[in-house]
Amino acid sequence: MDLQLTGRIALVTGAGSGIGQHIALGFAAAGAKVVVNDINAEGVAQTVDAIEAQGGEARAAPVDISDLAAVEGMIAKAAEAFGRVDILVNNAALLSEHTMYLETDPAACEREIRVILFGTMHCTRAVLPGMIERGYGKILNIATDAARVGQEREANYSAAKGGVISFSKSIAKEVGRHNININVVSPGATNSPMRIGLQEALKEKLGEAQWLAREEKVKRLYPLRRIGEMEDVTNAVLFLTSDAARQITGQVLSVNGGFAMVG
Ligand SMILES: NC(=O)c1ccc[n+]([C@@H]2O[C@H](COP(=O)([O-])OP(=O)(O)OC[C@H]3O[C@@H](n4cnc5c(N)ncnc54)[C@H](O)[C@@H]3O)[C@@H](O)[C@H]2O)c1
Repeated sequence: MDLQLTGRIALVTGAGSGIGQHIALGFAAAGAKVVVNDINAEGVAQTVDAIEAQGGEARAAPVDISDLAAVEGMIAKAAEAFGRVDILVNNAALLSEHTMYLETDPAACEREIRVILFGTMHCTRAVLPGMIERGYGKILNIATDAARVGQEREANYSAAKGGVISFSKSIAKEVGRHNININVVSPGATNSPMRIGLQEALKEKLGEAQWLAREEKVKRLYPLRRIGEMEDVTNAVLFLTSDAARQITGQVLSVNGGFAMVG
């Protein structure tokens, strides 16, 4: 299927590493021009270089998405460079603690909600007027199955992502009449460098044999018996932000090997 993304302008947040970087490269490979956002300027530069090395076009946007004024500046610069933003992917996030809610640091909790929920809301606020004016737009928000079914030791992160899901559905109802689609991709465990790093630390703590036994136990929670790869998420994002998905809005698509089957 040709997703016809050639010439589209896509902005991906948190694209300086992991899944966001993979999505940005996926858009570029599909012929889109990409605005690469991340708070980590070095990561942004790496992604821009990688896109240019594969013959694509990209602009760096090293901005903290929890800062509304900075986000508005980023969208204005993107419009200067490329004329508009057709596609926004809200992917940036952080999971700063993996601990029971009562042991979490309130300041860390506030930061997670600021980045994940307010960051998504700020970027949406900044791109929507242009999309409404042009009568065209795609917004794709990355959630997590932790938000769909709950996850102990990730209460703050899950709460922020749950807010992203509700926000997406509400805005989809508000702007559908302007030919703007808003959907959510909800990954299960996915082998991004972030997850691989956490697993390496766990392996060190538990020892190889115990870690392997644990990983096998985790896989048994997945009917397809595999942990997701970044391309599994990218494929879903490219489809949902293309016109092939023009009749789909306000939906949450889990990319999770069947881990949770939410009605
Ligand atoms: N890897 C998984 O198993 C998994 C599972 C479910 C959902 N997800 C979601 O997928 C997305 C990508 O996760 P990942 O595994 O690639 O993690 P990651 O940590 O590699 O990527 C997140 C990126 O967001 C950036 N970021 C953080 N705060 C920011 C800010 N204020 N402004 C701009 N950028 C900021 C980080 O610098 C980082 O590059 C996240 O939304 C995450 O919640 C991941």
